[in-house]
Amino acid sequence: MDIVDEVKERLDIVEVVSSYLPLQKAGRNFKALCPFHTEKTPSFYVFPDSQRWHCFGACGEGGDVFSFVMRMEGWDFRTALEELAKRAGVELRPRAPEQIEREQEIQRLRDALAQAAAYFHRLLLHAPEAQAAREYVARRGLSSETAERFQLGYSLPRWEGLRDHLVEQGFTLDELEEAGLLIRREDGTTYDRFRGRLVIPIRDARGRVVGFGARTLEPDGVPKYINSPKTPLFDKSRLLFGLDLARQAIREEDRVVIVEGYMDVMRAHQEGFRNVVAQMGTALTEAQVRLLQRYTRRFVLALDPDAAGLQATLRGLEVARESLEREAEPVFDPRGLVGFEGRLGAEIRILSLPAGQDPDDLIGSDPQRWLALVEGALPVVEFVFQQLLAQADLEDAKERARIVDRMLPLLRDVRDPVEREVYAQKIARALEVDERTVLSRLHRSERDAVRIRRQPVEEPVAVRRPTSADLEGYCLAVLIRRPWLLARVNEVLVGMDLQPLQAQDFSDPIYRAVFEGWETVLAEPQPSADRLREVVPEPAGEWLGEVLSESEDLSDEQWIREGVKAALRLRQRNLKRIEADLRALTREAQEEGRPEAAEYGQACLDYARAILRIQQALARPWGEVPSPSG
Ligand code: UTP
Ligand code: MN
Repeated sequence: MDIVDEVKERLDIVEVVSSYLPLQKAGRNFKALCPFHTEKTPSFYVFPDSQRWHCFGACGEGGDVFSFVMRMEGWDFRTALEELAKRAGVELRPRAPEQIEREQEIQRLRDALAQAAAYFHRLLLHAPEAQAAREYVARRGLSSETAERFQLGYSLPRWEGLRDHLVEQGFTLDELEEAGLLIRREDGTTYDRFRGRLVIPIRDARGRVVGFGARTLEPDGVPKYINSPKTPLFDKSRLLFGLDLARQAIREEDRVVIVEGYMDVMRAHQEGFRNVVAQMGTALTEAQVRLLQRYTRRFVLALDPDAAGLQATLRGLEVARESLEREAEPVFDPRGLVGFEGRLGAEIRILSLPAGQDPDDLIGSDPQRWLALVEGALPVVEFVFQQLLAQADLEDAKERARIVDRMLPLLRDVRDPVEREVYAQKIARALEVDERTVLSRLHRSERDAVRIRRQPVEEPVAVRRPTSADLEGYCLAVLIRRPWLLARVNEVLVGMDLQPLQAQDFSDPIYRAVFEGWETVLAEPQPSADRLREVVPEPAGEWLGEVLSESEDLSDEQWIREGVKAALRLRQRNLKRIEADLRALTREAQEEGRPEAAEYGQACLDYARAILRIQQALARPWGEVPSPSG
């Protein structure tokens, strides 16, 4: 952890932040228009004393210099550490020789992919054999600027066009195979994966080519697309097509629209809708949403109503009902989405497309309509409800009751209790059933769920009971003991009218990375602490290894108690920090007779109340864990 401290020590947050935005002096502190949401009066503050930032406006976020640059640049923790260390003139620990070697190998793969993209692109522009491809691009309504911007290409209908070109550039067959560009036959010989197709480079968020999607030019060619296989650089489930070109717009508009296909993204960007990315035909994964979360928390999913996707979505409701103990969904069916919204304070809406049209067609023929559909996208719960209503015979009382039943598991996953009740009322009214019946069924299903959820879903991870005085580390060390523990602790927090734990609660970037990693792992089918070690960045791995090395264990009830206590202490500390900053602001505003004083004063009170609630809960004898309802 020293390296992070050292970087922080040497950098001044005021200086770093002001290299991104103009800061105005406000007493001892600095303020600015918040870069993370749109606002007219500044509510974004930087505090030199605590070396922290906080937005007191709509986004309500805050943190240290690391979280600032991570959000601003969309960097992961490792990149932020590298960049800030460079800026601070701090040497990162030299890497092991094998690691350096592997990094060089990976860099070779990147080079091969970049050169392949350039090669395909040149062919599309100039090769006589690419005439049909050029005509195809034009027929699909893609302009030459779009072809440039996405670096579209063409692969010759030959078995070794790319291979010969790249071998001449000095790449080995093994390298090209590892990059996913060549396929190896049984007899050891190799040939080009992409042949006679329109080639679309797929890039990571930083704009580096990591793979390709290649479309047939035949009207009914099968398969329609050939994609890169999974490689060290290419994992469809962790990438979003178009993100490199969309991230700026996503941040500016504070919203991302997720579509299914390459064509949809290219057309959208061409028509000026630049906050659009594609999940490339697969189910949306938590890793993808996490990637986007660096830019916005507002997601719009464009689903094709004919597609298997939507039907699966609705079927998912049935499946989910039978497996209430699942703590996290590997894919984003409605329950996964709603749970995710709650965990991360995200807002997810679903846009339903007119039958038979994908965004590509729609944007091409009627961009205004597209815009209206994006604006009219519905929250997940409402969307599912509308779908069920549309399919049902509402004259039939049994069918109305069945809709209520299908909605209950989804409602239960709505984290905010008030929102949950409001939905329940809406549903009751729309179906003309007794509100109290819906509510009581909802509450009954909540109790059942809690009971089921308490049973551990997998073998406990044996670990030493942490004794660290360090609040954040301790809290984390407890929470990773059981896959279901975080959800349980969050339920208690929400029951006390507090936000669920978030990555922001951890000010140490390493702990934050562990927390985020844990949330990612929890979304997988087999969450475990071992799996966590695989996903966290290297400095965090060290800490994890230490925590997980010894084994002493507590009962489930004891872990819950430890988890809740630690989470409450951590939250208490965080709220106190913000409250202290706010008090300073209030005082200053009062002294200068500025009108914001009253608003800040009010906010101080809100924080003080929350802190008091926590103090009272912590003072309770800990035989009894506060329950979600009281
Ligand atoms: P679509 O069939 O909707 O393709 O699949 P599209 O992008 O709209 O292409 P056009 O308009 O028919 O030319 C959506 C996405 O699913 C993935 C691709 O990422 C595609 O963009 N997909 C589809 C494949 O990977 N392989 C396939 O064979 C089909
Ligand atoms: Mn299409």
